[in-house]
Amino acid sequence: MITPVMPTYARADIEMVRGEGCYVFDSKGRKYLDFAAGIAVNAFGHGHPHLVEALKRQADLLWHTSNLYRVPGQEQVSERLRAATFADTMFFTNSGTEAVECAIKTCRRHHSAQGRPEKYGIITFANAFHGRTLGAISATDQKKLREGFEPLLEGFTVVPFNDLAAVEAAITPNIGGIMLEPVQGEGGITPATQEFMKGLRALCDKHELLLILDEIQCGVGRTGTLFAYEQYGITPDIMTIAKGIGGGFPVGACLATEYAASGMVVGTHGSTYGGNPLAMAVANAVLDLVLEPGLMDHVRQMGERLSQALEQMIPNHEGIFAPEPVRGLGLMRGIKCLVPSRDLVNHARSEGILAVAGGQDVLRLLPPLNIEQAHIDEAVERLSAAARSFPKS
Ligand SMILES: Cc1ncc(COP(=O)(O)O)c(C=O)c1O
Repeated sequence: MITPVMPTYARADIEMVRGEGCYVFDSKGRKYLDFAAGIAVNAFGHGHPHLVEALKRQADLLWHTSNLYRVPGQEQVSERLRAATFADTMFFTNSGTEAVECAIKTCRRHHSAQGRPEKYGIITFANAFHGRTLGAISATDQKKLREGFEPLLEGFTVVPFNDLAAVEAAITPNIGGIMLEPVQGEGGITPATQEFMKGLRALCDKHELLLILDEIQCGVGRTGTLFAYEQYGITPDIMTIAKGIGGGFPVGACLATEYAASGMVVGTHGSTYGGNPLAMAVANAVLDLVLEPGLMDHVRQMGERLSQALEQMIPNHEGIFAPEPVRGLGLMRGIKCLVPSRDLVNHARSEGILAVAGGQDVLRLLPPLNIEQAHIDEAVERLSAAARSFPKS
């Protein structure tokens, strides 16, 4: 049978037709509390008036001109991100994986421009997820992402996450960078330890390597600071962002220091749509909201409360949730499950809550950053109901 859309997703048979704040509604009129937020995308929920207004205003003015001309929105977003981060410069993309591709290219071109082209290799980590381009799937050891797509891009050495000695042992004259998610998302909400991140920065400094952070999922306020790296007292050389920065509109970026980006000169990279006026209008509006004083305090407070409420819930559901601390930072949280997390996520929808699976056995919660206490109470109630009614095998 012909499938009009390639069946690469195990899609639920549900059509979402409308969103309002922290809720989405399906074609049958059912209401769901959205603690998935499009996998950490809808940072301010659905239909936030400031974002809708920005998109509509730009839609009336100009949609697209190409990157052959200046795009004022890019310059504004760049100025604001530069002021708030380590970065001197950036390249705008339409997705996370394109930002990762740009990061890999920026790292390779950097070493080539510095006269050491042999340093094309990048150390990456077990269980990492950087997206679906050939470059991004080459940068992980996850078999399900790679199988059947070989030969992949060469030059990646995958070592265990949070294992500094393994990283040090993997550094050869061909290694030019280290790339990681500060909090592994798809892999099951695993934050890098303080010692690991600081150790990676020191190794990069010692061996002239570029530290590349993939903050596509954990960035833009998700962990309670604008970017997760701030909580480690280090800065990267290159950083990828996407998801939250568009609040639901497709946009990503690869940020870098001037030194790291030294090879990215005219003609080395491009994108027809990257940084188009519509995407930039929305990204600027997201920045208005995410940079508002007090928002990061709010994310940290809600994150702590969510974590505490989940920890109180876990012991009531023996056999469903593992008796382990809640994982993660800010509003990027995970609960280890003793049943397949995908099945639990699917079942939870029947109790009116959206969550996401992370790895085989983690249930991820990535609610909008502007949730309130009432949403946390409701989420815990609905998850408890889902755990109680989960079919026993
Ligand atoms: C850490 C990380 N990197 C890269 C990607 C890929 O982003 P996209 O799906 O926008 O290409 C994702 C998406 O889940 C991600 O979580």
